[in-house]
Amino acid sequence: MKAIKHIFPAKEEVAATFAAFLKEQINASERYSIALSGGSTPKILFEHLARHYAEDIDWSKALLFWGDERCVPPTDDDSNFKMTKTYLLDHITIPQENIFRILGENNPESEAQRYASEALRTLPIENNLPVFDLIILGMGGDGHTASIFPHQMELLEVDNWCGVATHPDSGQQRITLTGKVINAAKQIAFLVTGESKKEKVDIILHQKDGYKSYPAAHIQPTNGTLHWWMDEAAAIV
Ligand code: 6PG
Repeated sequence: MKAIKHIFPAKEEVAATFAAFLKEQINASERYSIALSGGSTPKILFEHLARHYAEDIDWSKALLFWGDERCVPPTDDDSNFKMTKTYLLDHITIPQENIFRILGENNPESEAQRYASEALRTLPIENNLPVFDLIILGMGGDGHTASIFPHQMELLEVDNWCGVATHPDSGQQRITLTGKVINAAKQIAFLVTGESKKEKVDIILHQKDGYKSYPAAHIQPTNGTLHWWMDEAAAIV
């Protein structure tokens, strides 16, 4: 797998170096579109950005989207939007029109269609796919990414830009970008930390037996660059 690996001793350093990378990217652009992720590592990243880059990043250039959202209201503790608002948006100055929230409180099927046709249509379209400047992804212990879980591999291949997914344990519905949209991005960055990810990271990055059964292994940008930012706990076998 062609990926640029960035490995740091601790998760705080993953967040700090990725935040510095983000600053360079956003400030050097006219407009910079980012799909954000839920999960534990983005949370530390958002805290770091709020503390150190509230002023140093020109947030008016950033267009914020989400790679996936849980189907709950934006006030629910499970909401990826709520997590982002609490740890980042409440601490920076960014125009409201730059924020493209997935409406988790709406009917999942119709919201997946609306997000594709209203939000993603504002991005440049190439080969019938919206092109993000950057998509931030996490990886679950089961090898899922965004909300593409191993029992719904079809979401990697479908032509719809957004799909409805079901969490395998809780049954919670989620809205997710689909594989073709993710792979059309200019840059994709996995943020993966912690010992619990180590086994899957090893299988996926070294293409060991069975790696294709994990959604994260299918994330390989068509024309863009793939980064894996990790701490040693996740990366060193
Ligand atoms: C979500 C995510 C999901 C997440 C991974 C990793 O909404 O849950 O977008 O794909 O990134 O499950 O999460 P952790 O970093 O918390 O393990």
